[in-house]
Amino acid sequence: MELDKDLVFNVLSRATSRIFLNREVLRPDYIPDELPHREAQIEELAQILSPLLRGERPNNVFIYGLTGTGKTAVTKYVLKKVSEYVVKLSAPKFLYSYVNCRHEDTTYRVLASLASSLGVKVPFTGISTAEVYSRIKRALEDYGGVFIVVLDEVDFLVKRVGDDLLYKLTRINDELVRAKVAVIGITNDIKFMERLDPRVRSSLGEVEIVFPPYDAIQLTDILRDRASKAFRDGVIDDSVIQYCASIAAKEHGDARRALDLLRVAGEIAERSGCGSVTVEHVRKARVKIERDMVTEVIRTMPYHGKVVLLTIALAGGKFNSTGELYIRYRELCEVLRTEAVTQRRISDIVSELEMLGIISARIVSRGRYGKTRYIVLSVEPSTVLNALAGEPRLGWIVKNAGDR
Ligand SMILES: Nc1ncnc2c1ncn2[C@@H]1O[C@H](COP(=O)(O)OP(=O)(O)O)[C@@H](O)[C@H]1O
Ligand SMILES: [Mg+2]
Repeated sequence: MELDKDLVFNVLSRATSRIFLNREVLRPDYIPDELPHREAQIEELAQILSPLLRGERPNNVFIYGLTGTGKTAVTKYVLKKVSEYVVKLSAPKFLYSYVNCRHEDTTYRVLASLASSLGVKVPFTGISTAEVYSRIKRALEDYGGVFIVVLDEVDFLVKRVGDDLLYKLTRINDELVRAKVAVIGITNDIKFMERLDPRVRSSLGEVEIVFPPYDAIQLTDILRDRASKAFRDGVIDDSVIQYCASIAAKEHGDARRALDLLRVAGEIAERSGCGSVTVEHVRKARVKIERDMVTEVIRTMPYHGKVVLLTIALAGGKFNSTGELYIRYRELCEVLRTEAVTQRRISDIVSELEMLGIISARIVSRGRYGKTRYIVLSVEPSTVLNALAGEPRLGWIVKNAGDR
């Protein structure tokens, strides 16, 4: 539904927009021609891949950094450039396969995707993963060159099916004579590596590249570049771009958020018939993005996750420790006549909420009292309360809180 609406809106806005020249360049999957402030990472990855020009296997690479730090964009960019270079130089054979494990989150689907990059068709079902695997090996040997496997958001795959496939892929070279395979694993989840089998960890992490968050100045550069392509002349002032950048910089330097802000602000300006995008449009965009994100996160969250979030929102959005949060959570469970889960589980839920970007849970040392987590809601408490108001078992609490 949403997609349909967007498509129509796209077509119409392109034909008539006073705001947009090309809205597509603000979409998250658009790969720009230039990636400012990622020169070091681009160079590093190109360097790591360079042995393939001699027909040698590059090292496996493990890439990590928070969401929106350019990992996907840089990886796709470098692989595209390497492919172009290889063609131009008629260098040794080189192929790659990009798989997003958030979408392809089973062993079978990942393998099917690899197979298809090698020109092997496999049915949706009906054959075993072992069979797909051996067809891939055969195809690799027929091809006989370097094959790079990119597993983006690889934590999704491992969470779902474990690390067997990673293990196999990092060992596949032992079973190959002519072809050579290297794996690029990408994740937003810094703790992901710790959970891997040590053997997989050491072979996947032959080399590691870290993507640090962008600061406000870097985000401004990135946005300026995109804004000049996305908007008509004179529609957006540099101060508005800087404002978007400063908001995104506070939200862990996420370029995706910054671009979303710009796009949604433009859409709001357009719908309200304005001829320019203003700071006020950005403010509205921020509220809308937050609301959409929170609603989406809450919709898919288990019940006790919702209760924890409600506890934090009702307390005004802050807790000095997980322990304090737990006390209030238990009180709320009593009111709700629900059995509370353990503090350990609440601690896990806090980590999950942090991963989803809905709270931040900074670990602070309290001297001889050990460590604790300082929990802060990343969005307005009212946004969370509004989103929870429609929940069957929790809505009435939100209403009561509002009436007080
Ligand atoms: N250095 C950069 N220059 C221009 N655009 C960037 C840069 N870094 C990220 N982006 C853009 O920000 C968005 C998010 O980047 P992405 O590579 O998807 O982040 P990640 O994979 O780390 O979550 C994409 O639209 C991407 O094109
Ligand atoms: Mg990505």
